Amino acid sequence: MKIFKQMKPFYWNERKRLIISILSLTCATGMNLMYTKLLQFLIDDVIVNEKYELVLTFSFTAAGVIIAKSGMQYLYGFTGARVGNKMVLRLRNACYEKLQYLPYSYYETAKTGDLIARMTVDMDAVRNFIGFDFAQFINMGLTIIFGSVMMLTISWKLALLTLITTPILIWLTFRLDRKAQPAYRDTRSAMSQLSSVAQENIAGIRTVKSFNGMGHEINKFSDKNERYRNKQYEAAKTVAKHYPVIELMANICPILLLIFGGMHVIRGSLSLGELAALFSLTWLIISPMWWIAFHINKYSQAKASGERIFELLQLETSRCMPERTREDAAIPINGEIRFQDVSFYYKENSSTPALLHFSLVASPGSVVGIIGSTGSGKSTILKLLIGAYKIKKGEITIDGKNYDEWHSSDIKQSIAPVFQETYLFAATIRDNIAFGVDNPSDEEITQAAMKAQAHEFISMLPMGYDTVIGERGIGLSGGQRQRIAIARALIRKPKILILDDATSALDMETEYKLQNALKDELAQTTCFIMANRISSIRHADEIIVLDKGQILQRGTHQDLVSLEGPYRSIYLSQYDDSIHKHNHLTLTVEGGEQ
Ligand SMILES: Nc1ncnc2c1ncn2[C@@H]1O[C@H](COP(=O)(O)OP(=O)(O)OP(=O)(O)O)[C@@H](O)[C@H]1O
Ligand SMILES: [Mg+2]
Repeated sequence: MKIFKQMKPFYWNERKRLIISILSLTCATGMNLMYTKLLQFLIDDVIVNEKYELVLTFSFTAAGVIIAKSGMQYLYGFTGARVGNKMVLRLRNACYEKLQYLPYSYYETAKTGDLIARMTVDMDAVRNFIGFDFAQFINMGLTIIFGSVMMLTISWKLALLTLITTPILIWLTFRLDRKAQPAYRDTRSAMSQLSSVAQENIAGIRTVKSFNGMGHEINKFSDKNERYRNKQYEAAKTVAKHYPVIELMANICPILLLIFGGMHVIRGSLSLGELAALFSLTWLIISPMWWIAFHINKYSQAKASGERIFELLQLETSRCMPERTREDAAIPINGEIRFQDVSFYYKENSSTPALLHFSLVASPGSVVGIIGSTGSGKSTILKLLIGAYKIKKGEITIDGKNYDEWHSSDIKQSIAPVFQETYLFAATIRDNIAFGVDNPSDEEITQAAMKAQAHEFISMLPMGYDTVIGERGIGLSGGQRQRIAIARALIRKPKILILDDATSALDMETEYKLQNALKDELAQTTCFIMANRISSIRHADEIIVLDKGQILQRGTHQDLVSLEGPYRSIYLSQYDDSIHKHNHLTLTVEGGEQ
């Protein structure tokens, strides 16, 4: 029950409705118990005593009970559904909010399918329990208590005799629950794995297809699918094995009643109506007992689901920086960034640093180019700049103030990263560019697209800015997607812009145009450009050559290219062909022949 106590804030507001739902179900069951009395009355008073003039009264009373019972059932269904839905609405929103604030590191290992399962299947289990099964649970107990009392008042001896096997019945249902629980848990985890595989496959379908991995993927899915089937089968086998015994035990009760009750009627110590009432009461009591296992199962499933949801809700979020309160005014950022002897390790006890003794000073409006081989730490710098990880060694400051002392909202308002992997939403190009900005005008969107060199190709699309692009931007070329992502960053008019390999798919001419547009527009913006291509960073005020997290060289393009060293080597390897071509062309023109 602990988990449902923890969930109290999510349904406590609805407690009145919860009580109405429980009461109305209890009343409906009370009407059921009344039926048995009506039956007794019909047989003993109307039929045996031949008082046929009472038939009309009896019929009206029976109709009244039926209508009242239906009304109560409706109230139970209606209020129960409301309580369940309202609670799940709050829970789901809370989970979704939590997902937004979980640290970046959480998503490195998180499985989308599993998270989706928590937000859907688990939520449904909890909703059904709080909305319906909880009331049923209480109702079951009340039916058993009141039904037994009614039976005892009719004939306590017969009642005790009839209900003699019920403890065995209850024991059996509990045993079933104990056996079935692990099977149900396995089933749920198998389902979660199955959806993870499907989700991953859909996300990576292009890779799968291009590497002809369909067969492998199909096998992987069928394995998981079969595992799910087996788990379901095991659960069903356990239930199927127990149910006949439970049914047998349940049926013994009315049989005992018919034998001994019948003898009493023959002897005249029990009326026919009383026997009929006892018979109906027996079933009224036995059925909930029969279902105890089912409801306990539901309870356990809801408990397990609730725990999975709470596991998510209790995860620590990444709000390492203080949030701005209403009284705090927004502090404008100028864009002066300093890294002072920053060393960073992704794992606490890792021996390989992602950055080692890294220092830099970027004055407002300057352009810093970072070049380095793959895995040298370029994207790590971006992650530290957006506050994805907290550093333990060294210090990062913005406008002279320690990064962690800034309000995260101030930083997020001023910083615009363009990630190495372009992510576009399945929405229109307009919405993709406008993401994160409140109601931008068409003019602003077009301006941003123009600067990002995206306007031209967008205008040529039949639907222009209203073109809906597929998930992850399917339907556009790599360079087109990158330019939309850049436009999305530019529309924010950031004070700090970070382009992590964000122009890698652009041809050099477009890249050059983009650089010029940025130079004009972002004179006051501090720009970080991470790249593998010299052409992307050669115009930078300072270029840093990075290798295995360490700075190998730093300076301007002119400085570095004239020095023997890694930068010059990269330059030569990338420009060798064009230098040759250039020399060749010059020679040809000068020689006037060939
Ligand atoms: N989330 C992570 N957990 C652990 N190690 C990581 C993580 N992300 C990156 N690394 C490691 O940190 C180092 C630097 O990675 P980073 O992504 O910064 O390189 P990069 O210069 O951006 O490379 P690329 O040019 O391929 O994008 C690499 O050795 C990488 O394996
Ligand atoms: Mg990278």
